[in-house]
Amino acid sequence: MSTIRSITIIGAGNIGTAIARGLVKSGCLSAGKITLARRHADKLVDLAAEGFATTTDNSVAISGSDLVVLAVEPGQLDELLQAVGGEFDPARHTLISVVSGATIADLKRHLKDGVAAVRAMPNTAIAVGESMTCLSAAACDAAGLNLADQVFQTVGITLVIDEEQMSAATALCACGTAFFLRAIRAASQGGIEIGFNARDALAMAAQTAKGASSLLMARGLHPEREIDRVTTPRGATISGLNEMEHQGFSSAMIRGITTSADKVDRLYRKK
Ligand SMILES: NC(=O)c1ccc[n+]([C@@H]2O[C@H](COP(=O)([O-])OP(=O)(O)OC[C@H]3O[C@@H](n4cnc5c(N)ncnc54)[C@H](OP(=O)(O)O)[C@@H]3O)[C@@H](O)[C@H]2O)c1
Repeated sequence: MSTIRSITIIGAGNIGTAIARGLVKSGCLSAGKITLARRHADKLVDLAAEGFATTTDNSVAISGSDLVVLAVEPGQLDELLQAVGGEFDPARHTLISVVSGATIADLKRHLKDGVAAVRAMPNTAIAVGESMTCLSAAACDAAGLNLADQVFQTVGITLVIDEEQMSAATALCACGTAFFLRAIRAASQGGIEIGFNARDALAMAAQTAKGASSLLMARGLHPEREIDRVTTPRGATISGLNEMEHQGFSSAMIRGITTSADKVDRLYRKK
């Protein structure tokens, strides 16, 4: 197993900074060993105050570490790689891209032969060590894939998948964070309507969601098995559940996920 000594993240936005903070929180790396790059220097000031190494110069960022994460928007990727793609050294660098919709072939087009390129799809819960991160790479980049797996295992759960499944993974796990947050918000709004103040309702809904998820993960059972335990015949839970299904709850979630997956496919190519 290789030792991770440092990491560079080009694109210090939402997910880039979430990855950085997650790695620090997990103890994988100290902030000083993480270089964060973006073009707007003013937006790096707070990150520098947190102890991260910061730069607006991508060449400096790339030369600073063997492991480089690209976390720019899909429409910003080509310009970035046209400028600095040639600076990745096959003997040294592993590139990890979290850019939605950009394939390994899209990345390799800008790189020298032999530079390891891995796709990773984490979610923003990486900041608190709870990401679901899907990874994929070409067979020739198995060592790079292992390294990426090692990094992301420190900040959540990882799963290696075929590259063709990456858009689906993006919809279910990256977009999925927003879907589950919206479900929690909806539950809290229900809580307010039945008598709790907004703060208590949100805390109650969030902890209930966390508990339900923990039950599944601890016991490894299908959700319906756990639902059976809380639905007594003619009871309150089954009445509420059935009303939600009459209103299209499962259908709305499924259609949201399939719509997002379809859109992810087109993000990089659309530009
Ligand atoms: N948000 C999520 O939950 C999530 C999860 C998984 C994957 N992703 C993917 O991760 C990527 C970033 O998403 P995001 O939500 O973090 O976007 P974001 O907040 O807009 O961050 C993108 C960052 O890239 C920087 N940037 C753009 N061009 C650059 C360049 N040439 N050199 C250096 N930095 C550059 C931007 O800063 P400057 O303008 O200052 O340069 C910005 O900070 C997207 O492809 C997204 O699909 C996001």
